[in-house]
Amino acid sequence: MDMYSIEGGTPLRGTVKISGSKNACLPLMCAALLGNGPTVLENVPDLRDIRSMMTLLEHLNVRAILKNGRMVIDPATFDTDWVPYDMMRKMRASMYAFGPMISKRRRAAVSKPGGCNIGNRPIDLHLRGFRALGVRMVERQGYVHAHHAGLHGAEIDLLGDNGPSVGATCNVLMAASLASGRTVIRNAAREPEVQELANMLAAMGAKIDGIGSPTLSIDGVEELSGVKWRVQPDRIEAATFAVASAVTDGDVLLTDVDPTAMTATLWALREWGAEIDHQGEDALRVRRATDCPMRPLQLETGPYPGLATDTQPLFSALLAVTPGVSRVRDTIYRDRFMHALELNRMGAKTSQSGDFLSINGVGRLEGAAVMASDLRAGAALTVAALGAKGQTQLRRVYHIERGYERFEQKLAALGANIVRSSETEPEPGLDWNAVEEEVAPVSEVDTRG
Ligand code: EPZ
Repeated sequence: MDMYSIEGGTPLRGTVKISGSKNACLPLMCAALLGNGPTVLENVPDLRDIRSMMTLLEHLNVRAILKNGRMVIDPATFDTDWVPYDMMRKMRASMYAFGPMISKRRRAAVSKPGGCNIGNRPIDLHLRGFRALGVRMVERQGYVHAHHAGLHGAEIDLLGDNGPSVGATCNVLMAASLASGRTVIRNAAREPEVQELANMLAAMGAKIDGIGSPTLSIDGVEELSGVKWRVQPDRIEAATFAVASAVTDGDVLLTDVDPTAMTATLWALREWGAEIDHQGEDALRVRRATDCPMRPLQLETGPYPGLATDTQPLFSALLAVTPGVSRVRDTIYRDRFMHALELNRMGAKTSQSGDFLSINGVGRLEGAAVMASDLRAGAALTVAALGAKGQTQLRRVYHIERGYERFEQKLAALGANIVRSSETEPEPGLDWNAVEEEVAPVSEVDTRG
């Protein structure tokens, strides 16, 4: 397995081009299965989850070709109706195949996704939506087996305990587009990625009203066509580079971004003390404001347009070095704080109580050996390491590869001292003289066990 060795302390400077959005692209790739002709996606990021989705399409006997950010998907040979555990285990977004399979093949068997490092992630809302559309389901040996004799429109409320669901809204949207009659989804997720799926389906011929609002109304049509579509910029990747600029006291120009999809992130960064200048419609310059100190924050994540849960680990890293007491609450994944324990290994002072993380900002972290538990935790630890004193070895960077295109190359181009290598255990670089001065004499050490 590979790790990053990061020597912190260099302010990031320069320009970084933000890639297409992973979370927008994954449902679009599945929506392409609904068309009666090929779909061409542009601005597709080349990263591990996109490759995993291509493997899933291959398993469905559909060829997807990706070259220079352009993906062609021809659904003509789509003839498979099950998703194996191995695919679901690697990527929960495999669930997006359910809607198109049930719609085009009239039946689907999907392995239920298992545990996840960011918290409990059930699929009850997806199943609630399909049931309302007329799908009959049984659960056997870890699989949901589903079939129907014709999908019909229905009134569906997709509000869960932690708010609306992005995945369930996308799945029901796809199935309802080819159902007979009208479907109304209440408490639909409004994330930009959901809006993009709805807009692409509309360009394929679907009849959808209320895009961007919590109520979506879909009048089913007989067929959808293929389409040419450009994937929106990745708002979470943009947030990652923005926070990295802030943490390192850098000055970074993000290009190919959509600032309108990042309102909550930009608000939080400005509250903290960042200066953010819009340069045209799709570029943002992010640096620390010279005229005001860094401020601790009370942050809470929420469904869009609230602060995205995927940025929460990044803000935790930023607030870990911001003098004062901050509090971060994640209302989407209430236990998504694995990164905080690793930040503590770097000298951060954080503690979790319920769904809050209390952070006592320490000014500067110190490099250490740490481990990425998931994609955004890995990004947050990288950002923390870039601002820390000394060297950090970050393990399990394969998590980061799932969602960031050329991550270390983009950071290196901004001046970051980051090297990728296979995992090794370096000797701790201790200053023994300093340690001996601090260690109590043997007579003072209680050896009774
Ligand atoms: C999407 O996951 C994203 N993944 C996640 O990004 C993101 O964190 C999440 O939305 C929230 O914004 C993709 O787009 C591929 P949800 P999704 O259904 O669709 C609960 C990343 O790092 N829920 O909106 O799976 C759920 O437990 C990833 O890029 C149910 O209770 O998220 C959560 O608390 C991680 N029942 C809340 O709803 C359900 O049936 C929102 O989940 C479904 C979800």
